[in-house]
Amino acid sequence: MAIISSKKQPSEPNKEPNGSSKKRKQRVVAKVENKEVENQENLLQPEAANEEEVKPEESIRPQRFADYIGQKDLKDVLDIAIKAAKSRSEVLDHLLLYGPPGLGKTTMAMILASEMGVDCKITSAPALERPRDIMGLLVNLKPGDIIFIDEIHRLSRMTEEILYPAMEDYRLDITVGKGAGTKTRSINLSKFTLVGATTRAGALTSPLRDRFGLIQKLRFYEVPELTQIILRTSELLDTNVTEDGAEEIARRSRGTPRIANRLLKRVRDYAQVKSFSEIKQSVASEALQLYQVDPCGLDWTDRKMLSVMIEQFNGGPVGLETIAAATGEDAQTIEEVYEPYLMQIGYLQRTSRGRTATPTAYKHLGFTPPTQQMSLLGDNG
Ligand code: ADE
Repeated sequence: MAIISSKKQPSEPNKEPNGSSKKRKQRVVAKVENKEVENQENLLQPEAANEEEVKPEESIRPQRFADYIGQKDLKDVLDIAIKAAKSRSEVLDHLLLYGPPGLGKTTMAMILASEMGVDCKITSAPALERPRDIMGLLVNLKPGDIIFIDEIHRLSRMTEEILYPAMEDYRLDITVGKGAGTKTRSINLSKFTLVGATTRAGALTSPLRDRFGLIQKLRFYEVPELTQIILRTSELLDTNVTEDGAEEIARRSRGTPRIANRLLKRVRDYAQVKSFSEIKQSVASEALQLYQVDPCGLDWTDRKMLSVMIEQFNGGPVGLETIAAATGEDAQTIEEVYEPYLMQIGYLQRTSRGRTATPTAYKHLGFTPPTQQMSLLGDNG
């Protein structure tokens, strides 16, 4: 299986219309302004894959379903889809994968291509700004090929409109000429599968969403699954990690394999410099304390978000923008990266009036939850 990647490079200027270039700048500023954050912020950002990390990531990425740990429900659904498509000698239906970053959407697309024995072309919406970008990809497809488009909710309208007939009828409609002499020509394309990935399924337009035959969610991983992933990766990296060491890293990985593997690499650095021959629980715990990743995987921003809600707003409800201002993080990152995990572990609730911190969050940060405060008052009075 060949993998052809045309993802936007990190150094390219960010031209997307929704202003996230400004948002990214704000994030950099936030890092500079708060040195304490700098240490560990990238460690817990599922998106923060810098160039140093991109290549080694490929070598630890599972290539087949048999190597892929977790997401059992999704694997079962895809296994049926693959077997059915193969037995009818058809291409796979278009697939939309959604869920928080770092859970394995790209990996899943690459595995699908391996299992189907086809090529996978990897790109992302910001790299498909001009109509010719997507046209170039489409006309070069071979039968059955998979195109993976990351951040598909950010496609430009023109690119999206080119995709409609391509997805539905494997046809590329090209408009030639201008004004009254405009003509539309159609080119037949090879039958292909589009795998779209997004952290925001709700941000897709309905015509685009409706063209996916399969819409599947990736969920956060359980600690035992992450432990197995860390043990698998440590073997590939030739690093000696004990079961309890792997579990300690897993507990602090926010249910996210990309974070688990990143933390493993940092703990490996720590063990090497401190001359530990194996990464057992105490070594992992010491190392992650150094990187300010707490026993539940919370970082500075998580703790700041929750403590602002508790200390300044009585636990909430608090508006997203207020939390963003208090933490120096942009609202979209809070919504897409931080909140899903805090909600998953039951520390934060989203209500129509804003965000609230739960009693579990109070306890984790060492505060007395409001109900207990009331009963304390009652007992005393
Ligand atoms: N590395 C990253 N994600 C993985 C997964 N789901 N299974 C095995 N190894 C992985």
